[in-house]
Amino acid sequence: MSFMEIKDLQVHYPVRGGFFNTIVDHVHAVDGISMEFEKGKTYGLVGESGCGKSTTGKAIIGLEKITSGSIVYEGVDVTNQRRQRNSSYNRDIQMIFQDAHSSLNPRKRVKDIIAEPIRNFLKLSDLEEKKRINELLAIVGMPEDSKLKYPHEFSGGQKQRIGIARAIASNPKLIIADEPVSALDLSVQAQVLNFLKEIQQELGLSYLFISHDLGVVKHMCDEIAIMNKGRFVESGTKRDIYQSPQHIYTKRLLSAIPNIEPSTREARKVERINVEQNYQVENHKYYDTNGRVYDLLPISDTHAVAKKEEREVVI
Ligand SMILES: Nc1ncnc2c1ncn2[C@@H]1O[C@H](COP(=O)(O)OP(=O)(O)O)[C@@H](O)[C@H]1O
Ligand SMILES: [Mg+2]
Repeated sequence: MSFMEIKDLQVHYPVRGGFFNTIVDHVHAVDGISMEFEKGKTYGLVGESGCGKSTTGKAIIGLEKITSGSIVYEGVDVTNQRRQRNSSYNRDIQMIFQDAHSSLNPRKRVKDIIAEPIRNFLKLSDLEEKKRINELLAIVGMPEDSKLKYPHEFSGGQKQRIGIARAIASNPKLIIADEPVSALDLSVQAQVLNFLKEIQQELGLSYLFISHDLGVVKHMCDEIAIMNKGRFVESGTKRDIYQSPQHIYTKRLLSAIPNIEPSTREARKVERINVEQNYQVENHKYYDTNGRVYDLLPISDTHAVAKKEEREVVI
């Protein structure tokens, strides 16, 4: 059973121009996507830079205005009331950003950064708040004396842990993690990913995990949606996407995963060239004459691909 349903979400940004700086066009950053979230699961949202991933995350949490579509949370339509003060939606849906540094207020001590959602949503006494902050620091593996320090005193990985502590402070149900490890060194990336998985199990969290790299999400996600030009080109379980990718764009993303295994490097290179040639020839089957991604068509209970509907010709 899903606790949240997103239907046909669209976010269009106005493009201004001309002498009077009027709206001359719209960027269809998110152009009709649907998703459902279940407790304890991780959903991957993957695509190249500019395809609309962050806009999707921000629209869900309420930082971006929705042009059309709906968000239903625990049976209630919250599409137009996501940013109401103290609402349970704001408490239950939290976000972690790629750039932990700029998402932490440099003038606030760690204890006040982490306490922000506690003060907004969980009316605790001073003593209870102190205890909760210590508990959160312990969960994210930071020493207790971090409390009195400022964000600049920490490394990138530690800052991301502070951002995570803040995100889990209000006991959320869903965390939107927008490229949470992209800015970190490879060795620290693995640590943070493992850690996100650990707290998921402890706290029963769901994640919407955003990344431009199918290599990074592989070990994190139960289900994955591949995004291109503001739409989903393919969605399915981890197995569907990695074992039997159908859309040409998904195949391209898979062939672009960096290869660290020397023995298969040559074979992967050949595969990459094949996929690229195929893309040039088959591209038109996957996009309409305006270059728009087709609607998703189910090909199994779990797997759907955006492809031109082939109607049977009856003679
Ligand atoms: N505030 C904005 N105003 C106008 N266009 C925007 C704005 N934010 C993002 N865009 C455009 O929307 C598209 C999707 O952006 P974004 O969601 O940031 O992509 P991603 O996170 O996948 O890299 C891009 O073409 C981007 O230039
Ligand atoms: Mg982004």
